[in-house]
Amino acid sequence: MDTIITSKDLQNHLDDFRNSQKSIGLVPTMGYLHDGHLSLIRKAKSENDAVVTTIFVNPLQFSETEDLDIYPKDIEKDTFLASDSGSDFLFTPTYEEMFCDDLLTTVSVQELSSVLEGASRPTHFSGVATIVAKLFNIVGVCSAYFGEKDWQQLQVIKRMAQDLSYRVEIKGCPIVREKDGLAMSSRNVYLTNDQRKEASNIPESLWKAHEKIKNGERQSTVIKGIISERLDRSSMIDIDYVELVNGENLTITDEIDELTRVLVAVRVGTTRLIDNMNALEGINL
Ligand code: PAJ
Repeated sequence: MDTIITSKDLQNHLDDFRNSQKSIGLVPTMGYLHDGHLSLIRKAKSENDAVVTTIFVNPLQFSETEDLDIYPKDIEKDTFLASDSGSDFLFTPTYEEMFCDDLLTTVSVQELSSVLEGASRPTHFSGVATIVAKLFNIVGVCSAYFGEKDWQQLQVIKRMAQDLSYRVEIKGCPIVREKDGLAMSSRNVYLTNDQRKEASNIPESLWKAHEKIKNGERQSTVIKGIISERLDRSSMIDIDYVELVNGENLTITDEIDELTRVLVAVRVGTTRLIDNMNALEGINL
């Protein structure tokens, strides 16, 4: 695996690949790789001739009160894991490489960006969309792999790619979980041992809700109630939102159907955690 720092250098390498009709898979990340990220790299490798993994802790998507300065990093371990999982290129641009000047141009995906995560993080998704747009422009024609863990982000990126006619195929990949069901996240390292134990209530609440749906319940309010009740049992968990929405346009759903996505966001101490499932399919614990 080659580690590459400049866009020009990456483009030169990828041009060679494309000229010989080889397909490219792109896996954008902010590093501190775990099995969730690695599942994207493996999937990209199984479907493409070459895989580009990117690591860039994108300041545009953090608000002033968020964890940009302390975001976990381990570039040596990441380099080993990315290579071991089949990545051919690791693109690790510097801040200056990505933003030689303050950006005058940004991308924002209206409507999809202001609800759910966007309600408490109003600039977050325009930060994500702008950096992903830059990566798409640097890498060019490719398939790009994103986790369903960040369901809203996946919808924002799909819509951006469609609206702006990117020649990039967006591939959503399933959530990878810890043994107790907690969705893997770089931010899980912030949890104390006690908080980590309590965090397993998040997937359990989804599991309980899905049991009820399996038994025929279709009213969103009932399902929201089950999840909230389960999460409220833990004094360490503060609910930000529990919502049932149309999984594509993210509008609120009253009655569950095959498109319904159940989305949960909580705070455990100062750490914000999110999870989600398809209402009819549920999650594997
Ligand atoms: P990051 O949080 O590092 O995640 C990189 C990719 O890994 C995202 O597509 C995310 O959905 C996926 N991912 C994270 N945890 C996962 C899990 N447990 N199972 C499956 N996939 C998982 O998301 C970002 O970075 C950034 O917003 C980014 C898209 C790179 C733009 O800066």
